[in-house]
Amino acid sequence: MQEGSCVQEPLGLYNLAYTLQMGREAMEERLALQVGSPVELEEKLGRYLHNPQEETGDWYRGQVKRYKDLVVSLSADEELQEAIVKWLQRGKYERLLEWWVKGLEIPWQYLYTVGAGLAPALPQRLSLPTYPFGKERYWVDLIAVGQPGKSQSLSSRNTTSQEEVCQTNASATARTMFLTPIWQKDAIVGPHIAQETALPVTLILLCDLPDIAASSIQAQMATGGHCRSLSSAQSRRELRFQDAVVQLIQELQHLLQAKSVEPMLVQVVVADREEPSRLSALAGVLKTAQQEYPQLAGQLIEVEGEADEETLLAKLRENQYRSQQLHIRYRDGQRWVKLWQEHPAPIQTRPKESSFPWKEGGCYLIIGGAGGLARLFVQEIAQQVQEATIFLIGRSELDASQRAALMPTGSGGISIDYQQVDVSDGSAVHALMQRVQQKSGHLDGIIHAAGVLRDSLLRNKTAEEVLAVLSPKVIAVEVLDEQSREMALDFFVLCSSFVAVGGNVGQADYAGANAYLDAFAHTRRAQVLAGKRQGETVSINWPLWEEGGMHIESAKREMMRERLGLDEMGTEIGMMTLYQALALRQAQVVVLYGQVERIRQQWLQGHVSPVSANLVGEGRQGQSLGPLQYGGTSEADERIVGAGSEPRTIPTAPAFGPIDTSLSQLAPMGASPTPTFSTDKLCE
Ligand SMILES: NC(=O)c1ccc[n+]([C@@H]2O[C@H](COP(=O)([O-])OP(=O)(O)OC[C@H]3O[C@@H](n4cnc5c(N)ncnc54)[C@H](OP(=O)(O)O)[C@@H]3O)[C@@H](O)[C@H]2O)c1
Repeated sequence: MQEGSCVQEPLGLYNLAYTLQMGREAMEERLALQVGSPVELEEKLGRYLHNPQEETGDWYRGQVKRYKDLVVSLSADEELQEAIVKWLQRGKYERLLEWWVKGLEIPWQYLYTVGAGLAPALPQRLSLPTYPFGKERYWVDLIAVGQPGKSQSLSSRNTTSQEEVCQTNASATARTMFLTPIWQKDAIVGPHIAQETALPVTLILLCDLPDIAASSIQAQMATGGHCRSLSSAQSRRELRFQDAVVQLIQELQHLLQAKSVEPMLVQVVVADREEPSRLSALAGVLKTAQQEYPQLAGQLIEVEGEADEETLLAKLRENQYRSQQLHIRYRDGQRWVKLWQEHPAPIQTRPKESSFPWKEGGCYLIIGGAGGLARLFVQEIAQQVQEATIFLIGRSELDASQRAALMPTGSGGISIDYQQVDVSDGSAVHALMQRVQQKSGHLDGIIHAAGVLRDSLLRNKTAEEVLAVLSPKVIAVEVLDEQSREMALDFFVLCSSFVAVGGNVGQADYAGANAYLDAFAHTRRAQVLAGKRQGETVSINWPLWEEGGMHIESAKREMMRERLGLDEMGTEIGMMTLYQALALRQAQVVVLYGQVERIRQQWLQGHVSPVSANLVGEGRQGQSLGPLQYGGTSEADERIVGAGSEPRTIPTAPAFGPIDTSLSQLAPMGASPTPTFSTDKLCE
């Protein structure tokens, strides 16, 4: 289990325990552990494996055979049975585990009696690794389905062939799913509040709120709670954001050192002034934190302007009653919650030539090295147009053969100019843009697909590693924007990741970096609408690509497919998705790919609301957010929406048929533990 994905990924400790207690037949050899988080579980399992005989090991170990007679006689003892129920009710787990490893039957279901106050909600069973079977394999002959010409008997082939068939079958029904963010008005009022339980706040972090004294807030918190201000002397917002991520991670590390198993609520408050703050991207870090530590709930609360202490305290308190809501925004005297809206599955066909973002004679800047997605985008442009100039950017030096490999065959009119530039270096990007102007005289589009990973659990992250992950996205996107602000771009595409909204164990920094791209895209899109920038701007939260720079082991791939319904996206589908995401005309498009029904079950649970006056799209710079009545808008639609604070109904002009009016909330970890879906492991 330790080597597999179960411990490494946020399956939800409750689900894991529930499955082992209720869904598995207990064996003769037994081991029991009492833990409060997946991290603690991993650590204890590690110690146990290292030295199973350790006398002082804080686990329970037993063989049913040895205690058989004793257990049989005790099982009939009514008093003991009553005692067991009391131990369950009073949380005396040590006693229970002590007896369970000896073979006594424990009615674990009492732990999961909803409504009896013993458990927050009924957990779900997980698909856990199966028991090992015989090593020799005997395959039944299978014929690959749906791939004429590829059919082949597998009896003579190895396990890889078996996987290929599974993939073929799976991808036959895999579909793409698009989600866009939406804000729902959600006031916490009324007499029912008194009956609800508020989660005690353990930590409040104030970002960019210089007029509020953290000490004064702390004095009004329950005992043991802390409030701190995250500060930065940096003048540039991207550097301030980086400082905030580092400090947030350090604060969480400090908090988690206590190894408390009690529920914790961490509230991060950011101030929106003239536009939604980029600091809202800290929500990505919180989302991952709660996956790594299920006892932790995180909230990102955006307040308007300079909040006074009393008002702020009232807001913080009311959010304690909705600890499962991750991202909250106060605007125009209203409380808004971030949700996700599903768009109908687009038809997977290539768009008409006129809808391609590329054009004959176009000049494009693609950042992301010579491998992975950047290379695929280069090849796609070369396939769609006869003549184009492409500047491909990476930090690595390429030898002659690598440069030659970049040039697609039969692409005579395509010029590919690989430039060795660190895109987070402002002066280097300035020089690059001058070269682009000299060589081409114009730039028509930018795709930012650079990224770096330094995966490790939150508790192990260093500031240096975090900054290495942040800068190629956070600093780079601002540098690129600054250097291209006067240019008549057709598009500005940002390759973000699903991890930014879904979180992923080990990738708190990467989640924050990508969430920053998302936040940036919302602002830039608003600037385009205001005539201050040009070019269709979208941040795409990609799922895994088959041919991207990521290498994910086949076991993980199978786990993703089997348990979460998620598949890797092939290049052809990926390119169509790019076109469709651009055509949606939204600042941020989350893409999921696989068995759509499965994904809905896993990720998009309940909370269905019709499109109404309580729902709005993202706000725009210089406008009060309340705003844009959402219903799936084209750019033209957005332009006709006034800057007033009251939502207005506007016509819906969806790119791919009518927008599904159902609205689902991306399942919050705290409320219903959600397994992680990918490692988004980039090849470096
Ligand atoms: N591939 C996927 O399945 C997937 C899924 C979700 C999201 N994404 C996102 O899409 C992007 C591209 O993915 P990928 O699979 O192509 O990753 P990749 O193969 O690792 O490529 C990323 C490239 O970015 C370049 N880079 C990093 N820092 C840079 C900097 N400061 N300046 C210039 N170049 C820099 C690196 O090239 P050098 O080392 O030569 O600089 C690296 O090869 C990533 O940012 C990722 O977040 C990808």
